[in-house]
Amino acid sequence: MTKVLVATDKPFAKVAVQGIKEIVEAAGFELVLLEKYTEKKQLLDAVANVDALIIRSDIADREVIEKAKNLKIVVRAGAGYDNIDLQAATDKGVVAMNTPGQNANAVAELVFGMIISSARNGYDGTSGTELRGKTFGVHAYGAIGKLVAQIAKGFGMSVSAFDPFVNDQVIAADGVTVCRSIEELYANCQYVSLHIPANEKTIKSINFDLLSKMPQNAVLINTARKKVIDEDGMLKIMEARNDFKYVSDVAPSNQKTLVEKFDKRCFFTPKKLGAQTNEANINAGLAAARQIVSFIKNGDTKFKVN
Ligand code: 3PG
Repeated sequence: MTKVLVATDKPFAKVAVQGIKEIVEAAGFELVLLEKYTEKKQLLDAVANVDALIIRSDIADREVIEKAKNLKIVVRAGAGYDNIDLQAATDKGVVAMNTPGQNANAVAELVFGMIISSARNGYDGTSGTELRGKTFGVHAYGAIGKLVAQIAKGFGMSVSAFDPFVNDQVIAADGVTVCRSIEELYANCQYVSLHIPANEKTIKSINFDLLSKMPQNAVLINTARKKVIDEDGMLKIMEARNDFKYVSDVAPSNQKTLVEKFDKRCFFTPKKLGAQTNEANINAGLAAARQIVSFIKNGDTKFKVN
């Protein structure tokens, strides 16, 4: 029988797991569940005889993919697939997919949860600031960026975006100002929200020079990946400018140093939880299960990324 493994270090909501199970079993497949595993060996053992794999930020590296001798498809239930070794998947004839857009709303809402908390000084009773009339930059205008822009406009913010892969007209049609360069975006926006993928071009691309272009009382919001930040550059800008704030749900490696030195000016969620809502888990988890069924039964490769 075709076996579908859901391997999630950070589990989906129970209701999502139930939905995945129903889809998998209705197709005549078997669901195998590995949640909250603590060692890679558990994942390696679990993948050994499965045909399909659903993961979140779980690492599907070459070792995992090669150990999964029957594997035909791996679906990252979410947007970013930098946790899958695509070359290893391709080498082994394994199809890799993501589920674009399915958890976008959850991430977009968290961006504003963190922004408001930051603007109100962590609700410590002191006078904060409002969002209305402030400048807001969207760095990459994909599914999340588009939603974030919409919410920012709802707050009465002046919204700009930079995304070389999205047609200017698409951005302008949303009433968002198109920036011609990353530098222009950062120079013009007090708030910048990051929605870039982590790849060769973007890793460590958010550096001191770029951040130092931001206006007074700058706030960088990162719900993308920690790898895109040049952490030394972040430390340097926080040291150089006591008006600069950094909030993120993908905590940096130097989190401890930042929190110790700049307590009030940085905030990190205890765990990556942008996509951690019942709705996002249901949307992304069920989409992943449906994509697997559709691929195994009909050879459907929509959403293939390798
Ligand atoms: C994504 O790429 O979809 C988000 O970063 C969510 O990741 P998660 O599934 O680990 O919460």
